Amino acid sequence: MVVLFKLERFLGRGLFLGLIGLYVLNLRTMKPKVGIIGKGNVGSALRRGLERSGYEVKSVGRDPGGVKELAAWGDILILAVPFLAVDQVVREIGERAKGKVLVDVTNPLGGDSLAIGFTTSAAEELQKKAPGAKVVKAFNTIFAQNMDSGRVKNEKITLLASGDDAQAKAKTLELARDIGFDAVDAGPLKNARWLETLGFLNIQLGYGLKMGPQIGFKLVR
Ligand SMILES: NC(=O)c1ccc[n+]([C@@H]2O[C@H](COP(=O)([O-])OP(=O)(O)OC[C@H]3O[C@@H](n4cnc5c(N)ncnc54)[C@H](OP(=O)(O)O)[C@@H]3O)[C@@H](O)[C@H]2O)c1
Repeated sequence: MVVLFKLERFLGRGLFLGLIGLYVLNLRTMKPKVGIIGKGNVGSALRRGLERSGYEVKSVGRDPGGVKELAAWGDILILAVPFLAVDQVVREIGERAKGKVLVDVTNPLGGDSLAIGFTTSAAEELQKKAPGAKVVKAFNTIFAQNMDSGRVKNEKITLLASGDDAQAKAKTLELARDIGFDAVDAGPLKNARWLETLGFLNIQLGYGLKMGPQIGFKLVR
């Protein structure tokens, strides 16, 4: 307090208040650092979209040391690896995800169906394996081709996110809005069961029914 008072006298009231204003503005616009695990279709699209939106982003592929480093660095971690690689990556991340948002983009594919579902979901199982992290299911219902813009044919599509930690979910929704999505809170992490089913339907429509990846869901409300 005394230091602030002295600074005000030294700088003059106008300049002092201006600097305080800039500081507050900077705090409000300061974005979390995003670490993406997976450098494939999804990882690279999210990186593009987030960097364009002003986020500081780092990503890593199959590199255990790099995964550890990235997990320690990021404020928000995005898991963009195949479902079958999740266990290994979670072991590599270890305690570094504690208290951080862990966004699960995986679709738990198992042949011509989901490998897990109905009474649980990949996201809920991930939360059990990483109990210190705040798991949010998101982006899995979107094709990678549309993940850097949040748009299909220049129309905003809906990003659904489910999670049990309100702040973690809010941060994920903000990140999605910044990319360009219409971001919607889809309830508790338990609802990942239905987001993963919707992700599977998306794949069926895009590739099974040959509509292609230039499609996306839109929630009219
Ligand atoms: N593609 C889509 O449109 C889409 C949409 C929604 C959700 N998803 C889901 O998102 C996830 C990623 O999909 P994708 O299309 O991006 O797959 P992808 O193009 O095959 O990329 C997967 C990435 O994960 C890396 N990886 C594999 N095992 C790893 C490990 N143990 N540690 C660290 N990195 C590892 C791969 O590295 P290597 O190159 O060395 O193998 C690659 O960089 C999947 O779970 C998928 O179901 C995909």
